[in-house]
Amino acid sequence: MRAIQVSELGGPEVLRLVETGAPRPGPGEVAVDVLYAGVNFAEVKARSEGYRVRSLPFVPGLEVSGRVRELGAGVEGLAVGQEVAAMAEGGGYAEVAVVPAAAVFPVPEGVGPRTAATLPTVLPTAHALIHEVGRLQPGESVLVQGAAGGVGTAVGQLARLAGAGAVYGVVSSEAKAAYAREHGYDDAFLTDSFPEDVRRATGGRGVDLVLDPVGGRTLRQGLDALALFGRLVSYGNAGGEGPWQVGQPELYPAARSVAGFSVLSLAADAPEALRDLAGRAFALAANGSVKLPVTAEFPLAEAAEAHRLMEGRTSTGKLLLRVG
Ligand SMILES: NC(=O)c1ccc[n+]([C@@H]2O[C@H](COP(=O)([O-])OP(=O)(O)OC[C@H]3O[C@@H](n4cnc5c(N)ncnc54)[C@H](OP(=O)(O)O)[C@@H]3O)[C@@H](O)[C@H]2O)c1
Repeated sequence: MRAIQVSELGGPEVLRLVETGAPRPGPGEVAVDVLYAGVNFAEVKARSEGYRVRSLPFVPGLEVSGRVRELGAGVEGLAVGQEVAAMAEGGGYAEVAVVPAAAVFPVPEGVGPRTAATLPTVLPTAHALIHEVGRLQPGESVLVQGAAGGVGTAVGQLARLAGAGAVYGVVSSEAKAAYAREHGYDDAFLTDSFPEDVRRATGGRGVDLVLDPVGGRTLRQGLDALALFGRLVSYGNAGGEGPWQVGQPELYPAARSVAGFSVLSLAADAPEALRDLAGRAFALAANGSVKLPVTAEFPLAEAAEAHRLMEGRTSTGKLLLRVG
């Protein structure tokens, strides 16, 4: 089979197309004939920094759509040939991917394989950020970093569906701000000026919920943008600064809370919780309430181009690799 392999960490050029044997599923696993693979920022981090990479060489790829090829021992409730979307622990940039059975989801009725590949990581993450962890209440305001990206595009729509009073995004360019405003955001601010913009937009009050996948200085500025009783959810470290720490001085005076979320950890440690979450999230895609626009699609062999686009901070919505 064809796969994209990384033998050394580095720039997009280390994503090389290779011919290799198709993997077989072990107990509790499923082999999928991949049609499309979603591209995630976590894969850029895996390629460049070894984020969650166990050893070299490795095949990146955390989410796929396709058809069940083979079931490992003990797997029930799935059938060979069935159309599925799946979260992978890597290995998605390939014609055959082996994934844990617990992270394989039948494609919802009316959803095609292209859209199905956009769902597995983004939608449960966005749902958890707004509901299970962020606990957004009707009428509350929310500020989302990376608003024009894959997760950001879904989060804005989910916030609106949850009855948010105001949905604000933060992005790195005017073009992304325009995209965010067209996809559910009331307004989108630029990275350099968002603290003042939030103060202006909220009359100095601040927002009730901040969703932060950037970390470092941006996370600190997000904390300062919170209203009384506000919550911040940290779910990434795109900025690459060291792990954040927050203590009593930042939290007590304004009664703030800080929480975290990782869909990959949920898949590894609490697969039943992920299945419940994914069920709730996918239902919104199936009934058309949430749409994840695919803004660029590349053949598998051109995975490096997709990474260049995302890393260059010019991508919006969801990027896909066409595999099958
Ligand atoms: N914890 C979880 O469960 C989970 C799950 C999925 C994704 N995530 C995180 O959510 C974020 C979005 O993921 P995605 O796959 O949907 O990617 P994406 O948003 O489509 O693309 C990457 C995003 O990162 C931002 N970015 C890139 N370089 C950056 C930098 N140096 N500093 C600050 N921001 C930078 C870009 O926003 P701007 O250019 O507008 O700043 C862009 O929105 C990533 O940080 C990812 O790790 C977390």
